[in-house]
Amino acid sequence: MSNQKIIVTGGCGYIGSHTTVALQNAGYNVVIFDNLANSTPETLDRITEITGVRPMFEKIDCTDIDAVRDAFDRHGDATGVIHFAALKAVGESVSYPLMYYKNNLVSLINVLEMMTAFNIENIVFSSSATVYGAPDTLPATEDTPTRAATSPYGQTKIMAETIIRDTVAANPKMHAVLLRYFNPIGAHPSGKIGELPRGVPNNLMPYITQVACGQREKLNVFGDDYPTPDGFCVRDYIDVNDLADAHIAALRHMIDSGDDIDVFNIGTGRGLSVMEIIRTFERATGVKINYTITARRPGDVPAIWACADKAAKVLGWRAKTPLDDTMRAAWLWQQNISKN
Ligand code: NAD
Ligand code: WQD
Repeated sequence: MSNQKIIVTGGCGYIGSHTTVALQNAGYNVVIFDNLANSTPETLDRITEITGVRPMFEKIDCTDIDAVRDAFDRHGDATGVIHFAALKAVGESVSYPLMYYKNNLVSLINVLEMMTAFNIENIVFSSSATVYGAPDTLPATEDTPTRAATSPYGQTKIMAETIIRDTVAANPKMHAVLLRYFNPIGAHPSGKIGELPRGVPNNLMPYITQVACGQREKLNVFGDDYPTPDGFCVRDYIDVNDLADAHIAALRHMIDSGDDIDVFNIGTGRGLSVMEIIRTFERATGVKINYTITARRPGDVPAIWACADKAAKVLGWRAKTPLDDTMRAAWLWQQNISKN
């Protein structure tokens, strides 16, 4: 058990809330910095119900340097930062690029500046498989070249990785882990926290659960003519609780090893098609999904999945939740939010 304090920016969001639960269950003291741009304060109540501990909370916008400085001043005794705070809707980023560059990059720069000022030396950053684009060979390893992103959102992840690398290179005391998440899905098994999409979901899993509960009529399956075994797009779907655990493994490794910078793919190592996801959801929950095949979605890569060997070898972390359990948790969460 650890009683170290960890600052979790974006901790009221989807991945941040599950990571806060995992951190608190492992004995860490968590302080969340979040402006609630894409989350609600009730998440703090739910985290408290699950763990029996209420995380500390600073309602701040990480792009506001004065607010960030004040919050670091109150929490300068933290051992590390897990930086989730970002906007993440790919399509929205194409329409509002400056909002995305400002929010995602200014937040990161402010956090890094205050970490330097307050001698907080460890940061875990939420990167994304989007940095690989459509790789020439699969699975994607950490050495697969990154590609210029097709959206401003993706570009913020490539730029953020560079900003962190340069900051660590210039500061011998600083350590960083870049976690490249593949496709996070699912919810806490209690069904008390999960993904809360605003409006029409962009992502597959919340769309499926909204169709399952009757909130949407049918799922549009984007393309059936991809050069994949069944013609549908292939992704590596990682359970959000497993993903949360990866952050703890990363923190521990960073603090124990003293490595300057490390990068890890966080996925299962297995690619699944959209149709396999639909069929697994139906089997696990007993609920049929009404769907129709439509045109490909512009910007979708045909297939990507992770080589997750480095995280297994170096962090001792691997995905462990059976996909059926992930599906049932996502469905339980959807049923809980549909009630309210
Ligand atoms: P989310 O939107 O659920 O959570 C992000 C949280 O950050 C929200 O609570 C939001 O209110 C907060 N936030 C945003 N801008 C902020 C700001 N300026 N100041 C303070 N708080 C701010 O998203 P998520 O799915 O939990 O994603 C977390 C991180 O993981 C993001 O950096 C995202 O880009 C990255 N990521 C997500 C996915 C995915 O598919 N969900 C995949 C790869 C990477
Ligand atoms: C998954 C598959 C779609 C919705 C995105 C971001 C990526 C990362 C994770 C943050 C694809 C298909 C989807 C639908 C469908 N986020 N689909 N009908 O696009 O792999 O990744 O989220 O970093 O950067 O781009 O995830 O869930 O949108 O799509 O058929 O209504 O489901 O074509 O094959 P994606 P997704």
